[in-house]
Amino acid sequence: MTADTSGHVVTAPPAATTIPATTASASATARQEAFLKAFHAERPAVTAEAFGGARTVDGRSGYEILCDRVSGRRRVLDLGCGDGLLLDLLARTPGRRLAGVDLSPQSLSLARRRPALSATALVEARSQQLPFAEGCFDACVSHLALMLMADVERVIAELARVLAPGGLLACVIGAGGGGTGYELLGELLPPALARTPADRRMPALGDRRTRDPESLGELLTTAGFHEPERETVTLDLTAPPEQVWAALSGLYDFAAFDRDALNVVRGTFLARAAGRVTPDERLSCHFRAHVVTAARR
Ligand SMILES: C[S@@+](CC[C@H](N)C(=O)[O-])C[C@H]1O[C@@H](n2cnc3c(N)ncnc32)[C@H](O)[C@@H]1O
Repeated sequence: MTADTSGHVVTAPPAATTIPATTASASATARQEAFLKAFHAERPAVTAEAFGGARTVDGRSGYEILCDRVSGRRRVLDLGCGDGLLLDLLARTPGRRLAGVDLSPQSLSLARRRPALSATALVEARSQQLPFAEGCFDACVSHLALMLMADVERVIAELARVLAPGGLLACVIGAGGGGTGYELLGELLPPALARTPADRRMPALGDRRTRDPESLGELLTTAGFHEPERETVTLDLTAPPEQVWAALSGLYDFAAFDRDALNVVRGTFLARAAGRVTPDERLSCHFRAHVVTAARR
C-alpha cells in the first residue's frame, strides 16, 4: 500500500473473488475494453472536445452540472476521467483531494499535463478494480463513462466500497441524440457501417441497465445506495455543420471507417446538411443525458 501525491491511500486492486460475479463474459469484457483503449489511444480528448462546449438551456455543460452536484465534497474520484476536464473544474475549489481513473494511458497523460492537476492521483486502472482504500472518497463523479463499463455490478460494488458512508455518486449518462445532425447520422451510418469489416465495428459497450435511470437506480439501491435523484437534461450541440460533424464524428461508431470511407461519410453529411441548416447557417443538434445522483447509506 502506498500514499500517492494527492494523499489518497492507493491499495492493490481487491481480489476478484471478494466482489459478486456478473453475467458479462470475460472475453466480451476484454474485447470492449480493448476497443475503448484503441479508440482513445487515437483520440484521447474526444469527449471533452465534443461535449465541453455543449450547454443546457441554463448555460451549463454536463461537466459543470456534476461539479455543482458535488460542491462541498472534499475527496472526489472521477471514474473514467478521460483527459481530465472535469477534474480540472473540480480543482478550482481549494483544499480538494482529487483522483481520476481511466483505462486509457493516452487520455491520462493529457490529464497529467493540466497544471491544476499536478497533485491529483491519475491512475490507469479499471473501475471494476479500484486501487483505493475503503471509504476514502466523499464523492465520485462520472461523465459519459459509467454506461460504457462492463460488469457494472462490480463497478458499483467498488464505488460503494471506496465511498465513505454518506458519500455521493453523481454521474451523467448518455440518453441519445436528436435534431438534424443526429437525423443525418441515422440516414448515413447504417448503410456505411454495413460496408465496413465486421471486426472493426464497435462492439456492444457496457450494460444497457445503466442507460435507463430506473434500472440504474435498482442496481444502486441493491448495492447499498439510497434511492437516486434523477434528472434528464438536453445539451445543445447546434453549430455550423462542420462543427457538428467534428462533434458527432467522435462517436465510437466511426472507429469502423478507414480514412477514405470516413471522407465519403463526411462529404455526404456536409452536402445533405447544407440543405437543412437554419437561417443562420447552423445545423440543429442536441444530446440528452440523464444526471443520476445517489448517496451511499
Ligand atoms: C466517453 S469517454 C468520457 C471521458 C470523460 N469522462 C469525459 O467526459 O470527457 C469514456 C471514458 O471512460 C473510460 N473507461 C471506459 N471503461 C472504463 C473502465 N472500465 N474503467 C476505467 N475507465 C473506463 C474510457 O477509457 C474513456 O476515457
